[in-house]
Amino acid sequence: MVSADAAASVGKLDKLLEHGRKTVWNPAQDVDWAASSKALEKLSAGDRQALRSVLSLVYYSDSQGREILTSMCRGLDRDPGSREHPLAEKAHEFFVQQMDDEHRHATGLLLLLDRMRFELEPRAFSHRFLSRFLVADRLFDAKLVLLYWYIEVLAKEIFVELKKKFPETYVDSLFTRIIRDEARHVGFGEVFIPTHVATTQKLKRPQMATAYYATAAALPGLFRVSHYARAGARLGLDLRGMFSNGMNDITDKALRLPARQRFLDLKRPSIWASALL
Ligand SMILES: [Fe+2]
Ligand SMILES: [Fe+2]
Repeated sequence: MVSADAAASVGKLDKLLEHGRKTVWNPAQDVDWAASSKALEKLSAGDRQALRSVLSLVYYSDSQGREILTSMCRGLDRDPGSREHPLAEKAHEFFVQQMDDEHRHATGLLLLLDRMRFELEPRAFSHRFLSRFLVADRLFDAKLVLLYWYIEVLAKEIFVELKKKFPETYVDSLFTRIIRDEARHVGFGEVFIPTHVATTQKLKRPQMATAYYATAAALPGLFRVSHYARAGARLGLDLRGMFSNGMNDITDKALRLPARQRFLDLKRPSIWASALL
């Protein structure tokens, strides 16, 4: 039997899916590539280099979307409780839709790199390390936390900042569309995770909690040792603030779960993030 909470979540996921179908866009046709490049022309050589690093990182993350989301579909099927999972069908649909979103983002980013005459940077060690984990077939619950409570949330924040930095340019035009998709991805996590925690076996909760704390500790560290922290700082992106705010927000979401669903007790791991970043 489907509980009232789960039925409400199905309705919310339906809305997200519907929104996704209605707002499909085409990177080549819908982005205003002829928009002004004024704010971009003012960039110094060092700033251009930093922007190239950040855009390359985003491109690599989006371009493996298909692989990551395919592994999420398989992970969901393998979940011992998937037959009774009230959101399994909708989540599948969402993962498939998100594959197309991420593919669009990667295409849009390649067009952007080309428009700016940037060559794609080689993939950094830190990204290769993270992606090994993301495309692995196991650890569905851990990846759920990592993707929808951290990566999508941080990605959206970074895009909002980049958009603000280059108003009325083609960067603005591209990121306006990407942000709309990312908001939907963040929304999926907000709807899916609480119901999933309520549905999933108790045994899995430690995996989710471990992912939550391990990511809080590792992600800022990974950024720190890579050159992305420097590139972000150079562009005036307050990555430290983003981690901190993002994690406070995530913690609040986790603590808002009903007591019987809660898998976290410690508060504010963002303190670790600030210490590390
Ligand atoms: Fe994306
Ligand atoms: Fe996304």
